[in-house]
Amino acid sequence: MPTSRPDLKPLFINVLDYLQEHLNHDPVADWILAETARRGIPEIAITPEQGRVLRLLVQVLGARRILEVGTLSGYSTVWMARALPDDGKIITLEVNPKHAAMATDAFERAGVTDKVEIHIGPALESLEALDLDAPLDMAFIDADKQNNMAYFEYAEAHTRPGGLIVVDNIFLNGKVIAPDANDYMRNLEEFNRHVFEKYGDAVTVIPFYKKEEDNLDGILVVRIP
Ligand SMILES: C[S@@+](CC[C@H](N)C(=O)[O-])C[C@H]1O[C@@H](n2cnc3c(N)ncnc32)[C@H](O)[C@@H]1O
Repeated sequence: MPTSRPDLKPLFINVLDYLQEHLNHDPVADWILAETARRGIPEIAITPEQGRVLRLLVQVLGARRILEVGTLSGYSTVWMARALPDDGKIITLEVNPKHAAMATDAFERAGVTDKVEIHIGPALESLEALDLDAPLDMAFIDADKQNNMAYFEYAEAHTRPGGLIVVDNIFLNGKVIAPDANDYMRNLEEFNRHVFEKYGDAVTVIPFYKKEEDNLDGILVVRIP
């Protein structure tokens, strides 16, 4: 007989609402989310809780060079860019010019334009043309999931020992591990297992609940040995 489980959704929402009410708000971050909706850009940015985690990772790493694949409106970029030192740089890749234009406005408003280099075009092409002036301290992958492996391999080849590779949405609301997963989802699950098996103890997965999308997902963090 299947075990009945309590509905955790109201609890998740209460906890997130509590954080929303009591943690300090960044007006620029709030503006980016509101402006994203106003411009009709998909509201699929990371959550503020994930933003705080990315910021913390950048700070504790003392990161100076970051690669981001999937800019959207620049929300995650701004969380990371603000944690960089003045001479730090984040290279961010985005295929959609409308998203890139919004992101450029966001960088200006956040005062991080000098720390961000945006490349517009398919990320695989941008990566091929990229001329890095130093190894990466961190890579954040959050674009078209079918290319996760290619983006991850690029990040592996260019991230310094002790650096981090972070991948968002590794469960796609559980669809990746569902018993009836389609081929696309099964490929993503294979990517996850490949990383888990290759990196073992160097892997961390942090689950996140995205209440706007009613989505329980996970962010993967790999520390390069
Ligand atoms: C989930 S959103 C990124 C969210 C962003 N990291 C944030 O949290 O604020 C994914 C983005 O990747 C972009 N994208 C999708 N396929 C891409 C590709 N092949 N090359 C570059 N960007 C791509 C989409 O246009 C979209 O803006």
